[in-house]
Amino acid sequence: RAEKPLAGKKVVVTAGGTVERIDPVRYITNDSSGKMGFAIAKAARELGADVTIIAGTTQAQPPVGISLTRVSSAQEMYEAALREWADTDILVKAAAVADYRPKETAPNKIKKTGDSLVLELVKNIDILETLGKQKTTQLLIGFAAETENLEQHAMDKLKRKNCDLLVANDVTAEGAGFGAETNIVNIYDANGLVDSLPRLAKDEVGMRIMELAAGRLKGTGR
Ligand code: PMT
Repeated sequence: RAEKPLAGKKVVVTAGGTVERIDPVRYITNDSSGKMGFAIAKAARELGADVTIIAGTTQAQPPVGISLTRVSSAQEMYEAALREWADTDILVKAAAVADYRPKETAPNKIKKTGDSLVLELVKNIDILETLGKQKTTQLLIGFAAETENLEQHAMDKLKRKNCDLLVANDVTAEGAGFGAETNIVNIYDANGLVDSLPRLAKDEVGMRIMELAAGRLKGTGR
């Protein structure tokens, strides 16, 4: 690609799902394959950026030649993102982060005893919201995985988490969301809908998001 609008810019992308341990052999996770995050990272690199991926659990093949930090829990993903944060130009949070984790991780395998077992969950840190509060010059791009009221939930998240752009996918739609090769997304900013993309390969969705992001960085003097 001839134009490199992100040359000299640092882009950090989170991808995949988090793993929250119950005991040494059991955990809570989700269906994120990492495909969407990896596609965004590849697009950013094609546009000239210096790219870092922070990945939880993934099924997809990570792109070759892009620096990748592996993490497990939401807390670890937060700490890894925070380490990159200060000189980041664009952070894209495509990862599916657990909202809750087991209150305690049992040191030994939990034994089968009673007829029922209650697992108490406590809230995880919201990485995007926490970083959104500390935002200075960074362009912050969040995702929203929804099953109903896409626009309303997306706009709520964009505002609450102080994002510059928010990519919303209806994860119940055919050919969209977790694990799929394609995605169908609406992109919002604080004024509302910016773009509504048809079903496209995740690589193409990644490129559209990063082209839009590159345009939004212009004029910041960075
Ligand atoms: O990985 P794939 O199989 O390709 O699937 C892609 C995808 C469906 C995972 C992706 O397109 C997607 O929607 N990612 C966001 C999933 C998610 O956690 O959405 P959410 O609506 O629960 O969270 C909103 C935003 O807050 C996300 O940017 C999320 O990374 C962030 N978040 C959420 C919870 C938390 N504790 N910390 C966060 O930073």
